Amino acid sequence: MALRVSSRSELPSFMVMDVLEKAERMKATPQPLLRLEMGQPSSPPPKPALDAMMRHIHDTSAHGYTLSRGTIELTEAIARHYGRWYGVDVKPEQVLVTVGSSLGFMMVFLTCFEAGDKIAMTAPGYSAYRNLMLSASLEPMLVECAAKQNWRLTVETLEALDPVPDGLIIASPANPTGVVMTGDELAEICRWCEKKGVRLISDEIYHGIGFGDADHSALQYSSSAMVMNSFSKYFAMTGHRLGWIIAPDNLVDPLDRLAQNCFISANTLSQIAGAAAMDNPDSYREMDSHVARYRVNRDLLLDRLPEKFLGRFPYPQGGFYIYADISQVSNDSVALTDIFLNDLYIATTPGVDFDEKRGHQAMRLSFAGSTEDMAEAATRITNWVNQNT
Ligand SMILES: Cc1ncc(COP(=O)(O)O)c(C=O)c1O
Repeated sequence: MALRVSSRSELPSFMVMDVLEKAERMKATPQPLLRLEMGQPSSPPPKPALDAMMRHIHDTSAHGYTLSRGTIELTEAIARHYGRWYGVDVKPEQVLVTVGSSLGFMMVFLTCFEAGDKIAMTAPGYSAYRNLMLSASLEPMLVECAAKQNWRLTVETLEALDPVPDGLIIASPANPTGVVMTGDELAEICRWCEKKGVRLISDEIYHGIGFGDADHSALQYSSSAMVMNSFSKYFAMTGHRLGWIIAPDNLVDPLDRLAQNCFISANTLSQIAGAAAMDNPDSYREMDSHVARYRVNRDLLLDRLPEKFLGRFPYPQGGFYIYADISQVSNDSVALTDIFLNDLYIATTPGVDFDEKRGHQAMRLSFAGSTEDMAEAATRITNWVNQNT
C-alpha cells in the first residue's frame, strides 16, 4: 500500500527556481547564457563582510551554534540600523535572525495565525508567500491590483474584502512590479490594519534599492506589524541565507521557541559577516554604487527594449525587476520563457509565477546583473521581437 504524501505539500513550485534549474543544467551554449531570472545581485557582498569572515575563518567558535535569535552583535547591529535608516527605536531583543527571510515568513505564519486563517496579498505578488501559506494550512486571499493604477494597493480595495482578512502581507518596493509606497500610503494601510485587527506583515527586503524617495518602514507607523528583511538584496548576500524579523514584544518568545526547534540558529560566519557589513559606512557606500548600477540597467532596458515587448505596465521605482506586459507578443508567458531560454539563451521568469490569472501575458526580467548582460539581452530580445511578431 502506498503511504500518503500530505496535501499540505501539494504546492505549486516556485517557478523561478525551475527556470534556474534548467539554466544551471544547460551545458555549453552557443552564446553566453544571460541570467535575468533570479533576484540575485551579480555584485559581491560588502568588503567589511568579506574581511570579517576571513578574520574569523579559523575561530572554532565561528563554526558553532549561536543564540537562536541571532548573535548579540548582529541583533544589536540590526537594531542600530533602524535608528539610522528610519529614526525608530528598535530594541535588540525585538530582532530575530532567520535563515533567509523565506523561513522568517513561515515562522510568522505559524506564530501569528491559526489553520484556516485568511491572509491577503496582492496579485501580482511574490508567489512564495502564497505557497508557504498553503503549506501552513492558511488561506491566501488574492487582491488584484491594476497596472492602470500603478499596481497600488489602496485602503478602498482592502475595505471591499469580505470577510476581513486575519492578516495582510505587503511589500514595498514590491516584487515583481517595483511599485514603491509613499509614507502616507503605508501609514494609511497600517492604520487600517490596526483599526480592523488585521496582522500586518511588511516585507522590506528591497529597502535601499530605490530610485526615488527614501523607503519607509511599517515600524514608523505601527506597533503590531511584523517587519521582515534580509541581507540577500541590498547587501548582495543571497547565498548566506540570512534574514531577520522585527517583532512586537509579545511575539518574540514564540518566534524564538520556533527558531530553537526549527533550525537552532542561522549560519554563524554569515552572522559575523552581516554584523560587520551593517556597522561599517563603507558597506553602504559600496552597496549604493551597486544600486546606481541597477538604475543604469533599468534605464538601459526600458530605453532599448521594444515597446511591443514592454507593453504598458508602469516602470519600476525600486527593487530590480521589470514586469513586462508581453500581451502584444505572446499569450503564454511559460512558452515564451522556454523560447527565450532555449533559443536566445536568456533566463527569465514567467508572469504566472506572480499572478496565476493574468500572468500569462507578463514576464519578469531581473536587472540585478551586469550592465553588459543587460545590453546584450536587450539586443537579443529586440532581434527576436522584430523577427517573430
Ligand atoms: C519579495 C521577496 N520577499 C522575500 C524574498 C526571500 O528572500 P530571502 O529568503 O533570500 O531573504 C524574496 C526573494 O526573492 C523576495 O523577492
